[in-house]
Amino acid sequence: MLQPFLTNFVHSIRFGSGSINELPAAIKNHESDSCTIITDENVRRQPFFEKVLEGLDEAKISSTIYSGVEPDPNIDTIKDLGELVRKDGNSVVVGIGGGSSLDAAKCAALLGNTSEDIESFIGLNKCPRTVRKKILIPTTSGTGSEVTCVAVLTKTQSGGGDTKVLIKDPVLYAELALIDPDLTVSMPQSVTAATGMDAFTHAYESYTNNVYNPISDQFAIEAIKLIGQWLKRAVTDGTDLKARYFMSQASLFAGLAFANTATALVHAIAQGVGSRYHIAHGFANAVILPYIIKFNSPACIEKTAQIYSSLNGDIMHSKGFESASQLSGFVKQLNADIGIPADFSSIGVKMDEKEIKEILLETKENTPQLWEVNSRSADIEEVIEAIKPLLI
Ligand SMILES: [Fe+2]
Repeated sequence: MLQPFLTNFVHSIRFGSGSINELPAAIKNHESDSCTIITDENVRRQPFFEKVLEGLDEAKISSTIYSGVEPDPNIDTIKDLGELVRKDGNSVVVGIGGGSSLDAAKCAALLGNTSEDIESFIGLNKCPRTVRKKILIPTTSGTGSEVTCVAVLTKTQSGGGDTKVLIKDPVLYAELALIDPDLTVSMPQSVTAATGMDAFTHAYESYTNNVYNPISDQFAIEAIKLIGQWLKRAVTDGTDLKARYFMSQASLFAGLAFANTATALVHAIAQGVGSRYHIAHGFANAVILPYIIKFNSPACIEKTAQIYSSLNGDIMHSKGFESASQLSGFVKQLNADIGIPADFSSIGVKMDEKEIKEILLETKENTPQLWEVNSRSADIEEVIEAIKPLLI
């Protein structure tokens, strides 16, 4: 189908080994000699973080550090962060870490210039037009958060239980995504595997959903090729700088792809299951993906075949419905090769049909856009049927 499209992107990208050293110049580029750093405790303990602070010191740039970002940051954490940035008055916010820290940094930049509550910005294009400058530095390769204008937050509901909410607005695009693949060496094997599959899911969902566009398609297919080629190597040997380089590039490309399209049903289910059971986001996506590839295939069979072919040197190995089984099988094998279990019960999460139905109803209410853009229109009973092998 020929459909009109609109794209917008992160303002600048600096990519390469050692590019972290450009941070002081990047801050000065905004005529600032101070910044707020948003990160987590694990990143703060890494040797490179110390070097970042030394670099800022040498350049006479003062910093306020907030290292309390938890995985899947809660809205209450973001409210605390808002208090801090309103007081410190720094005009540049630097996010360093995984997707959670980068999303928190976007929210900090947003809250720094307003006294309004974070909850008033939940949804699409509800942010004020002016937010603080953002420099985002990923230390994982998968979330793509450094090049998207989305922040995913966890909200504790009045009756108890957590759910995910989204803030999406082009004002959240970073002024600079500073991507240094060497920083990803600090990622443990399981995080490399989970975030790598998160990137694969971003690329798959961007390529197959019904708001795809030809620019995003190019990035998505390149990301899939790179992940197929390099993820196993990055997981097997975390010090393999070549594998880290190409996985950082894959994550960047997948992020650039879905920044202008969307994620879809895999993310909807993964966010629901992940927030209820506190399962790592990429891990949840990886487990669910093979089943939704098959479920979606009647609506996007040609694109499914193209993805499978791109993983095999662009040779058309399959046509029609055969490709859905082949791509699904490929993802299952890749998961097994990188240590991701085949189902949730292997990590002690046992869901029955009643429970998954509750989760799906909840995600459909909280993130309807992820359902609406899915290539195949998704009825809850049909989705339960599709992921039945993951239930008890
Ligand atoms: Fe994701």
